[in-house]
Amino acid sequence: MREGFCCDSSNLHACCHKEFNGSMHRSSDYKLEDPSCNPESPLKVTFEEITSAAYKIKSGIVNTPCTRSHMSNLTGMDIYLKKDFLQNTGSFKERGARYAMLMLSPERRQKGVIAASLGNHAQAVCYHGHLLGIPVTVVMPIIAPIMKIQKCKEYKANVIMDGKDMAEARKIAIKMAKDRGYTYINGYDHPQIIAGQGTIALEIMEQVQDIDAIVVPTGGGGLLAGVAVAVKNLHPDIKIIGVESERCASFSMAMESEKPVATPIEGTLADGLAVPMVGYNAWETAKSLVDKMVVVKEEWIAVAILRMVELEKCVVEGAGAVGLAAILAGQLNEFKGKRVVLILSGGNIDTTILGRCLERGLAADGRLVKFKVTVSDRPGGISELCKVIGSIGVSIKDVIHERAWVTSDVFSVEVKVVCETRDYAHSLELRDLLLARYKKVKFDDIPENMAAAPTVEP
Ligand SMILES: Cc1ncc(COP(=O)(O)O)c(C=O)c1O
Repeated sequence: MREGFCCDSSNLHACCHKEFNGSMHRSSDYKLEDPSCNPESPLKVTFEEITSAAYKIKSGIVNTPCTRSHMSNLTGMDIYLKKDFLQNTGSFKERGARYAMLMLSPERRQKGVIAASLGNHAQAVCYHGHLLGIPVTVVMPIIAPIMKIQKCKEYKANVIMDGKDMAEARKIAIKMAKDRGYTYINGYDHPQIIAGQGTIALEIMEQVQDIDAIVVPTGGGGLLAGVAVAVKNLHPDIKIIGVESERCASFSMAMESEKPVATPIEGTLADGLAVPMVGYNAWETAKSLVDKMVVVKEEWIAVAILRMVELEKCVVEGAGAVGLAAILAGQLNEFKGKRVVLILSGGNIDTTILGRCLERGLAADGRLVKFKVTVSDRPGGISELCKVIGSIGVSIKDVIHERAWVTSDVFSVEVKVVCETRDYAHSLELRDLLLARYKKVKFDDIPENMAAAPTVEP
């Protein structure tokens, strides 16, 4: 996903001379613009709009819990988790989507809305459109997660799978809006979307007292902007921290360049954050209010997802777990001993991806290890190896043995093993035991223990 999207009309105009692969939409005649997002005169969302949004959406949105985390002792911080993955469609995106749709005129409601999204914004628009009786079309790029696509269909929306990435999907959606009279709702830069997302901060400040910092997952910047405005108006001392994956750090790039810039992005566990350029309105609103941006590595996101499952019994998608990832990686150590709220912004993760994340988390944690060992090929050789491994309580996940390419004597066999251990120290114990017992042992790297022992506080 290397193509930079922007709301910049000149850029879009240039981009649109291309014909989309496999798409019926030829857009060379159009100067495609998102009317709610003008780079020449970006809008700043105000505190009053956020309070007004809170009042309007209240009856259709879940006031999600914000509870103290079991990981407070583990991390040395007083952590609270705002569980917005408990919204009906599994993400905070419902807040902005509902508000933007409630604000449509009767004529616009009747014509319908269109959105382009990798999933959470699409689901939110489909769900609230269904509740409010507004026809919805969503354009989802072909790389959108299967679970998110399926959900949109269940809400009876017109789902179009088109565009190789968000940039293309968005262009298709804007063109369809023009052609068919739909209202295009940008998922992170429409001012009403930003105002709606800010309502989460009003809830947090009512639920938790004496907060030192709020940590906000950041993609296009709509959530960050809304939260920053709400918080800095009521409690200017609370620090606002944005977190991105290293694979799509577009807000950090904007901070460096002092303006939104196209940022190369790559596939990430935090797919919800994969936006190549922050929104102009979001940037204008947030730029002077954000205290710090943090960029986290992918392996920490995997560990954070794992910790959420193991210690909090919460299924959180990669985008929602980046705040915890930043803490586990030691990138927010200045808040040790302080009260920090993490926004768990979404929980929509394909089961297969969750499985892979958990495995990656275990591997990154040094609890899933892979090694090769050459053992005797006489009867009992492999069974002996299994006994040795089992003798210290290590569990074998996978064993493959290889005879043809072994270069030592013909009575040897090379065995490739994947094992699950309790922790990093247990993995080292296994390695030492095998090294003492067998001549040829080769372990893949056992990563340094990525976080303190994951024990739950009493
Ligand atoms: C789960 C989740 N968290 C955070 C974000 C980031 O929101 P924004 O694009 O407003 O920065 C998204 C965006 O889609 C998301 O889906």
